[in-house]
Amino acid sequence: MTARCLLAPLILLLLSGFANAETRVRIDASKPGPTIDKNVYGQFAEHLGRGIYGGLWVGEGSTIPNTRGLRNDVLGALKDLRVPLVRWPGGCFADQYHWRDGIGPRSLRKKTVNASWGGVVDDNAFGTHEFFDFVEQLGADAYVSINVGTGSPREMAEWVEYMTSDAKGAMANLRRANGRAKPWRVRYLGVGNETWGCGGSMTPEYSTDVFKHFATFIKTPPDNTPLVVASGGTNKQTNWTRHLLENVEESWTLRLDGISHHYYTLPTGQWDRKGSAIGFPEAEWFSTLFRTLEIRGILASNVRILDQLDKKKKVGFVVDEWGTWYDSAEGASQSDLYQQNSVRDAVLAALNFHAFHEFADRVRLTNIAQMINVLQAMILTDGERMLLTPTYHAFHLYRPFQGARHLPAVVRGAPEYRQGGQSIPKISATAALGTDGKLYLGLVNSHPRDSEQIRVESSTPVAKASGRMLTGASLDAHNTFAEPNRVRPTPVELPGSKGGLEISLPPRSILILALE
Ligand code: AHR
Repeated sequence: MTARCLLAPLILLLLSGFANAETRVRIDASKPGPTIDKNVYGQFAEHLGRGIYGGLWVGEGSTIPNTRGLRNDVLGALKDLRVPLVRWPGGCFADQYHWRDGIGPRSLRKKTVNASWGGVVDDNAFGTHEFFDFVEQLGADAYVSINVGTGSPREMAEWVEYMTSDAKGAMANLRRANGRAKPWRVRYLGVGNETWGCGGSMTPEYSTDVFKHFATFIKTPPDNTPLVVASGGTNKQTNWTRHLLENVEESWTLRLDGISHHYYTLPTGQWDRKGSAIGFPEAEWFSTLFRTLEIRGILASNVRILDQLDKKKKVGFVVDEWGTWYDSAEGASQSDLYQQNSVRDAVLAALNFHAFHEFADRVRLTNIAQMINVLQAMILTDGERMLLTPTYHAFHLYRPFQGARHLPAVVRGAPEYRQGGQSIPKISATAALGTDGKLYLGLVNSHPRDSEQIRVESSTPVAKASGRMLTGASLDAHNTFAEPNRVRPTPVELPGSKGGLEISLPPRSILILALE
């Protein structure tokens, strides 16, 4: 079908029934708020399952087309996504990672056991040089997680010197001997990961002291100084944020630029029976979206503490792991965390973006977990085959929001979506002034069955609107290797009318429009 054939029914669909629109979305373009940092759309790549090996790295000798060992198909898709930042090497894995195992000639690299994820043997083919080659090919920022759990300040200091120094010291010379003359740019350093759990089972008090100890020894050249992120809390916790802010006093030798926080969405909220990625009942469509919307409260309560204790707004709130976590499919390895990805994941991702935009002055960096073949992935691979998930398409739709100025978009009169005595807003909206000067609107209909008539009003006249929409034929519509394009965006064009736009938004959908 041609794009023109697809477009005609879509325009009709979007215009039908507009006379009854009671739901209003009002955009105030006269009040641009904070910039939505591009790194809010960051990714996470851990040595876990087929996240790196097979998914991204196939090695130079592979029959799968690659550039210096990195799959070309995956690289192409990620470039098109404009991935702004990648966090590596973990996760829990980071606290068992010793960087020296991953440098030098690959044939001589030590084989290590990935004790965090299934005890599989890691041949360390993907190490520091390969990671930076990857982010440089993508044009993305690097976010490196430091091993605090089983590492030492010395090991960290030497790795930092290896990556960032241009002096003639031993570490920079070692890097040169391994084939890289110039230092790499490290945008973020994460000191510790989940120190409350797999990163050391620490209390906030002990963890804060450990952070100060390690962070004091981050010594970098003045023109290549990474922003430093401390390991913080999870879920609804706020005590980690408070404790860090009250106890880390910045000095000439210690800085704190961000506090990490993790929030995963489980359909049931139970780790022993999380819920399925596909084939789930409507009750789990609802509970998954209900739980993911709790991110808003988590951001609000932590940002309140940041605003109280960091008046200069220097410290960011870094949600460096978020996304869905489902039961592994029957027969699949439990430690690979491989899961399917449906239109529910795409809707959920968009709802998270809206929350991150709302708190854009503090939320300057997030990382969805994870990029390829792990948890809520952008890309799934099977040998030489690759597919783009609905979540990939959600990230793609929201590209214009990277670096845009957030605008108020108020939803009025929209019904609630109710299930089992609970409810969530049916319609969610976000707006921004893009770096290209255009006004962008993002709309989500979280209802699994009902469309919604919406009238969009803007403080500036709207002559036309164009963009793309994503929806799926069923609650768990997803792409497979046999049918990789079942869920993908379709183009939308709408005429403006005096004072606004009339839209009929289909169930379980995301719509992104540029208003002109
Ligand atoms: O993303 C998978 C794991 O979830 C990470 O390794 C860990 O930090 C978190 O518990």
